[in-house]
Amino acid sequence: MCGIVGYIGNKEAFPILIKGLRRLEYRGYDSAGVALINDNGDLNVFKTKGKVDNLVEYCSDKNVTGNIGIAHTRWATHGEPSSLNAHPHYSQSKNLAIIHNGIIENYSQLRSRLQAKGISFVSDTDTEVLVQLIEFIQEEKNIDLLTAVQLALNEVIGAYAIAILDHRNPDTIIAARNQSPLVVGIGDDEYFLGSDASPIVEYTDKVVYLEDGNIAVIKRHDDLKVVNIQNRKLYPEIQTIDINLGQIEKGGYPHFMLKEIFEQPDCITNCMRGRVNIDTDNVVLSAVIDYKKQLLQAKRFVIVACGTSWHAGLIGKQMIESFCRIPVEVEYASEFRYRNPVICKDDVVIAISQSGETADTLAAVKLAKRHGAFIYGICNAIGSSIPRATDTGSYIHVGPEIGVASTKAFTGQVSVLTMLALALAKERGTISSADYLKIVEELHQIPNKMKELLKLNKRIADLSRTFTYARDFLFLGRGYNYPVALEGALKLKEISYIHAEGYPAAEMKHGPIALIDSDMPVVVIATHNAMYDKVLSNIQEVKARKGKVIAIVSKGDETISRIADEVIEMPATIECLEPLLATIPLQLLAYHIAVCRGKDVDQPRNLAKSVTVE
Ligand code: F6R
Repeated sequence: MCGIVGYIGNKEAFPILIKGLRRLEYRGYDSAGVALINDNGDLNVFKTKGKVDNLVEYCSDKNVTGNIGIAHTRWATHGEPSSLNAHPHYSQSKNLAIIHNGIIENYSQLRSRLQAKGISFVSDTDTEVLVQLIEFIQEEKNIDLLTAVQLALNEVIGAYAIAILDHRNPDTIIAARNQSPLVVGIGDDEYFLGSDASPIVEYTDKVVYLEDGNIAVIKRHDDLKVVNIQNRKLYPEIQTIDINLGQIEKGGYPHFMLKEIFEQPDCITNCMRGRVNIDTDNVVLSAVIDYKKQLLQAKRFVIVACGTSWHAGLIGKQMIESFCRIPVEVEYASEFRYRNPVICKDDVVIAISQSGETADTLAAVKLAKRHGAFIYGICNAIGSSIPRATDTGSYIHVGPEIGVASTKAFTGQVSVLTMLALALAKERGTISSADYLKIVEELHQIPNKMKELLKLNKRIADLSRTFTYARDFLFLGRGYNYPVALEGALKLKEISYIHAEGYPAAEMKHGPIALIDSDMPVVVIATHNAMYDKVLSNIQEVKARKGKVIAIVSKGDETISRIADEVIEMPATIECLEPLLATIPLQLLAYHIAVCRGKDVDQPRNLAKSVTVE
């Protein structure tokens, strides 16, 4: 979490930094700050609690000139959100200023050591410890900043992406990365720095993704220099990014979340492009071709992920088991990594992550790799840490997802998992050609069916008003739609702050039924599939207890329409693909309820898009 931006060049840095912070605000938004070196060589830090808008207002009467600066938007880990704890942090002499994303795990030992040497601290953060340590080493040994940074990082345990300014070197930013992402943009006689490429794309498409252990010396009118902690010179690859500005702006929608919900038909088309070939009725994933042997010899698949990506994994499990007849386990990455799991050499571990930066998922990947498993990544952010740590994988290609609540990434992940299950099943000979063809053809129809569903936006917005003030919600589904129920509940919780639970419909009678009364809205995915009659009975059970039923049904269903309080019709599809459609009305329901409640949909409280802390 936390967003880092930097600029050095011939332009005024402040507007570039602020624009960059706005693009990175999804990573954290409890405080924000900027450090600039002006033409007189003064190093000024301005920071304040709250969002980037507050920082802009705070700076309105300040001197924010300078062609070099660093800026930060924070998601608190050590120390409450406040202007004192906001970044950048000065060193004691105010010669240095630092911004940091990550956690310094041994900060308390380092802090006590520095305090014993007479250094005082003004914040509660681990970050301030780092800048004080750098300065202490620099002064004690009378060495240059780069060497002091290298020595300090050698003592640090933890994750970091940092950027440092020294007003005595007004032509240089020093940046370093270990387990937290950092990208350097190379412009025309100017450099940019970002936690991801979004603050950079407007200015240049040439970037260097720093690797763990890299330290970048970004100097005006000079080539980018990258070294490691031992000062060995490194030669990073300059890559060309293909994100455009339109993809990271709202494009007329009131919120990124709504834009991203509406993008889904195009996203899924992009995700399937070159992979689902309708002329030959074939699904081709390059990773399955290139790593056929490793994938086919697997005795077991283990899916590791967090949050929404974990829900996609639950759907993937059902498809892989059903089509490929291989056992699949789905694990919360945060649990998997700490419980000494059995991992065998012929396991394939699938890591699912939109951001590609989730610390627990990355750690689970590294653990599985150490045990010799073959790792397959399903990620969205190109060049992020997880895809770089895997043996192979498939990007979901849904474009940058900026709304903190994940929407299009979920349907992208489910689409890739469907293609993976189909491609593997064909190779293994565990699916009949008739079933394979039916699913491939239907998969091809999904974007059009999504478009049809999205026409219900107005109807769902109207319906949301009835339920705006509900205290609790229950979401029920069975089979492939059980993870959809979990996902619907998560979406509602995170953006509207209404308590919601997702349950397998039949489990309701083992406990949650006690909650049902006339105030309880129950969303039921009740499509026309093998479970229809069973789910119908579950709806009757809810109605018998006066619960309010909002049913997602297949188009033309007349039975449930007579019983449910509200009905949302979705186009019919085959059972395993229903999650790709059924999720959309739940995303819209959560969105509109949150809007009606006046919540900050794109930046819900306490959350951040990229969870790079454990
Ligand atoms: C929910 C949401 C989170 C993420 C989770 C994993 O809307 O966005 O639950 O799904 O933090 O993130 P990634 O997929 O980036 O690993």
